Amino acid sequence: MSTVKVLILPGDNIGPEITREAVKVINTVKKRFYLPLDIEYGLIGGAAIDSFGDPCPKETIASAKQSKGILLGAVGGPSWDNLELKLRPEQGLLKIRKELDFYANIRPAKIFDELLDSSSLKRDVLEGLDLIIVRELVGGIYFGEPRGIIVNDSGDREGFNTYRYSESEIRRIVKIAFELAIQRDGRVCSVDKSNVLEATKLWREIITEVSMDFPEVSLSHMYVDNAAMQLIKDPKQFDVIVTGNMFGDILSDISAMLTGSIGMLPSASLNSSKLGLYEPCHGSAPDIAGKGIANPLATILSVAMMFRYSLGYEDEATLIESAVKKVLRDGYRTVDIKTSSDNGMCLNTSEMGDRVVDAICELSG
Ligand code: IPM
Ligand code: MG
Repeated sequence: MSTVKVLILPGDNIGPEITREAVKVINTVKKRFYLPLDIEYGLIGGAAIDSFGDPCPKETIASAKQSKGILLGAVGGPSWDNLELKLRPEQGLLKIRKELDFYANIRPAKIFDELLDSSSLKRDVLEGLDLIIVRELVGGIYFGEPRGIIVNDSGDREGFNTYRYSESEIRRIVKIAFELAIQRDGRVCSVDKSNVLEATKLWREIITEVSMDFPEVSLSHMYVDNAAMQLIKDPKQFDVIVTGNMFGDILSDISAMLTGSIGMLPSASLNSSKLGLYEPCHGSAPDIAGKGIANPLATILSVAMMFRYSLGYEDEATLIESAVKKVLRDGYRTVDIKTSSDNGMCLNTSEMGDRVVDAICELSG
C-alpha cells in the first residue's frame, strides 16, 4: 500500500515538547487503525537558523511539498530576538505559509464544559461557545508591498507597510467561510474597517457578491473594533467570522482566551489542494520551555484537524477529540487550565499525552 507522509516541524522552545506528545497520538491511531502514514521530521524557526542560518531552509519546503499534512509546534524565542526582521524565526512560518499558499487559516474556538471556570469571563457568557475564525493568511498587510523603513525628505525615519487585497484573494477566502457555515449554523460575520480602509471596502463589496451564491447562509458585517468588543461581551452571537490576515491574528487571540487557555486551541491552514499546515494557536512560550509543563492539547487537537481536513480520516479525528474530552472529564489538567475550584489532577506535558493515548485506546475498545 502506498504511504502518505506527515511532516513534523517541532520548532523552538516548547515546540518539541508538545509535538512529541502529538506524535504519540498519531502513532497510536496509526497502529490501531493500520493507517498508511509515514512520519518525518524537519527544521523551522530558530532551530533551522541554528543549523542552516535560515528560518525556513529549502529542504523544509521541499519536504513539506511532498507531504499530505504538516504539524508545526511553535517558533521563536529570546535567543533570536536580536536578529533583523528578515532573519527571525517568525519569517520561517510566514515563508512556509506563503510558499505553499496556505491561505485559509481556520481557528475554531469551542469551549469544553469542563473548562468553563478556567476562563476569565463568566460561565453564562461562554457556556456552549462554538465559533470559528477564518483568517486570510498569505496576503494583507503581512505581505503587502511596498514595505520598509526609509529616511524621508525631512530626514525623519519612516516605517511603512501596505494593506492590500486583490479581488481574487478575497473571493477564495470568503468562499471557505461560506462553505464552513453551511455545515454549521449558517451564519457568516465579515470583519473589516470599511469606514476607513479602501482595501476592506473592496472586501465588503466582494463578500456581499459571493454571498449571493450561498442563499442558505446569512451574512453580516462588523467593524473590527466593534468585533473585538462583541467577542468579549457576547461571543456566542458568532458562528463563522471571516477576516483578513492582521485582524484575524488579533481576533483569534481574543477568541482563544475565551476558551480558558490559549493552550487549548488548534488551527489548520489549508491551500487549494487541501494540503494543510496544522499548529496550535499559541506561541513557543520560552518562559516555561524545558520545564515539561506545557499543555500539549492544542497540538493534539491540531492533529485531529489534520486527520479531518487533509488525511480524510473523519472518524479518527472525532476519536482524538473525544479522547481529549474524556481526559478533561476525568479531571486531568495541565497547570494552565487548572483552577483553584476544581479537584483536577495536575499533570506534566508527557503525562497529559499519555492520558490522551490511554483514552484513545479505551474509547476505540
Ligand atoms: C499566529 C502568530 C504568527 C502570526 C506569528 C508568530 C508570525 O501570531 O500564527 O497567529 O502573526 O501569524
Ligand atoms: Mg497570532
